[in-house]
Amino acid sequence: MKTKIIFICLGNICRSPAAQGVMQRLVEERGMDDKFEIDSAGTYSGHHGQLPDPRMRRHASRRGYNLTHRARPITSDDLDYFDIIVAMDESNRRSIASMCATLEQERKIVMMGDYIVKMRAHYDYVPDPYYEGAEGFELALDLLEDACGNLLNDIINNKI
Ligand code: 4NP
Repeated sequence: MKTKIIFICLGNICRSPAAQGVMQRLVEERGMDDKFEIDSAGTYSGHHGQLPDPRMRRHASRRGYNLTHRARPITSDDLDYFDIIVAMDESNRRSIASMCATLEQERKIVMMGDYIVKMRAHYDYVPDPYYEGAEGFELALDLLEDACGNLLNDIINNKI
């Protein structure tokens, strides 16, 4: 059975599709891609159907990630279908929690910030780069690369 993970941010054009790309490559590198289904969505539907923001695609492609996800809003079906729902920040978590009809759904929500280790002294969430410059996109990718490896280790070791 596959472990199904969905990354959630606001617009689903910057942080969560990048997280999806980072995690997808990690599971491929470890030869485990047949054991995982990885997706992303947003709490805001305004970018529905769009590719990731061109700035995120550019910064990600420099690190070898080809981001082709099409933005979509999170649905109530996602709350049942996915095993692990990963929120990028507290605002995302609150939006997801407000959609949950059961405790079982709510218990699936984890914070990406809880898996940031190297940059923990400075960040306990993944800041929104949308209104930032190039540094904001590099920072988001640094944090996502840090957190995805730790999140995957915890999933593999049955800590989640
Ligand atoms: P994301 O970034 O949540 O990381 O995809 C944003 C994308 C779009 C907007 C805000 C944040 N927006 O306001 O349109």
